[in-house]
Amino acid sequence: MSDRQKWPVQDVPGPNARQLVTRSEQAVSPSLPRAYPLAVKRGQGMMIEDMDGNLFLDCAAGIAVCSTGHCHPRVVKAIQDQAERLLHICGADFYDPMYIGLAERLAELAPGDDPKRVFLANSGAEAVEAALKLARHHTGRPRVVAFFGAFHGRTMGAVSLTASKSVYQGGFGPLVPGIAHVPYAYCYRCAYNLTYPECDLACVDYIEDMLFARSFPADEVAAIFVEPVQGEGGYIIPPPSWISRLRALCDKYGILLIADEVQSGIGRTGKMFAIEHWDVEPDIICSAKALASGMPVSAMIAREEIMNWPAGAHGSTFGGNPVCCAAAMATLDVIVEEHLMENANQVGGRLLANLQDLAQESHLIGDVRGLGLMIGVELVLDQETKARAKEQVDQVIQECFKRGLLLLSCGPNSIRFSPPLIISESQADTAFEIFAEALKQVEGRSL
Ligand SMILES: Cc1ncc(COP(=O)(O)O)c(C=O)c1O
Repeated sequence: MSDRQKWPVQDVPGPNARQLVTRSEQAVSPSLPRAYPLAVKRGQGMMIEDMDGNLFLDCAAGIAVCSTGHCHPRVVKAIQDQAERLLHICGADFYDPMYIGLAERLAELAPGDDPKRVFLANSGAEAVEAALKLARHHTGRPRVVAFFGAFHGRTMGAVSLTASKSVYQGGFGPLVPGIAHVPYAYCYRCAYNLTYPECDLACVDYIEDMLFARSFPADEVAAIFVEPVQGEGGYIIPPPSWISRLRALCDKYGILLIADEVQSGIGRTGKMFAIEHWDVEPDIICSAKALASGMPVSAMIAREEIMNWPAGAHGSTFGGNPVCCAAAMATLDVIVEEHLMENANQVGGRLLANLQDLAQESHLIGDVRGLGLMIGVELVLDQETKARAKEQVDQVIQECFKRGLLLLSCGPNSIRFSPPLIISESQADTAFEIFAEALKQVEGRSL
């Protein structure tokens, strides 16, 4: 099904897709950001079939969610079996072996030897909310630091931590108070115009020397929230020692380091959690998206001594639903037993190298960066000024869509490759070919 020769010539959107778009425009909240008119009939493995019979190679994976591909038979079977046994009981009120089993599994997988505890919820934002509440509750401190470019979700606490696009916060104030944003280690566009490693990570010193010294007393700061690889902000990989310097800063002032691994976790970067690339142990981890291959479940994992809030302090009716937990456990089995992290490293490395080669001959590609199957391509109008090629990002994505490849943007001017972790080398090569073709087409226009 992945051989490009067998795909029908794309004529998108077809009549069924157009009809669904019209129905959506009449019935659905206009706040939903639609990338292109993909109307989905079904998915299998790496492929999506639309309602008009067109086939697409999926390198978006429902925003980095479908880790084991669409409808992996082992995940589907686990869901079916659990659905026949029990749909819901409320793992917060009763003892559900599925909830407890997944909690044990995640506590085991989280980096570090200290015992962990796990709270299960339904979405990335809910895991972040839980972490924010726990950090305040445990430390008794009100303030929190997060990063520009960060995306932590859209509920009130999570959106207050989010600073990737102003539309996410605009009109929703007053937000949760006590949150300050500082520049991420985005070396391609260093906020201080410095170069790594000569900069000696001035971006971490800034937090201590400016923020803590001038407005945000460190002993009032409960936590630093960080995405070990920044996701929605542009698929940005920080330099090697950055996360460990943040860890040291947190340790110095008794601040919790919270790793938001909602997008980067569960094997996507070639390790179970991206933060393991730098051998750093966070105090709390938030996980969601890829955890259950598409079923809604998320987790907030914390060291046992930190998760010391009393009964009733936090909970959720649906969080850790048994069907979702079954999907999550099957997903974790597939990721480990089918060597999907190794695959992410191997295929991701090949795709990254191809894109880096393409950058040599492209005048639009400014930067290519990636870890495993979390790969970002930043487009610029000018290699010197790095003026952002925002329109071209959209044009390339639309051209890919017309050619049968699903991609999404990230940050103001980047394109992300976040395929299912099952992608084969030949599928990655096909994705690369289509992308290169689409890019050339757009470059022709913008010469
Ligand atoms: C790093 C990160 N945190 C949190 C979220 C919010 O997750 P959700 O949309 O499931 O609430 C996202 C979603 O993209 C994310 O990428």
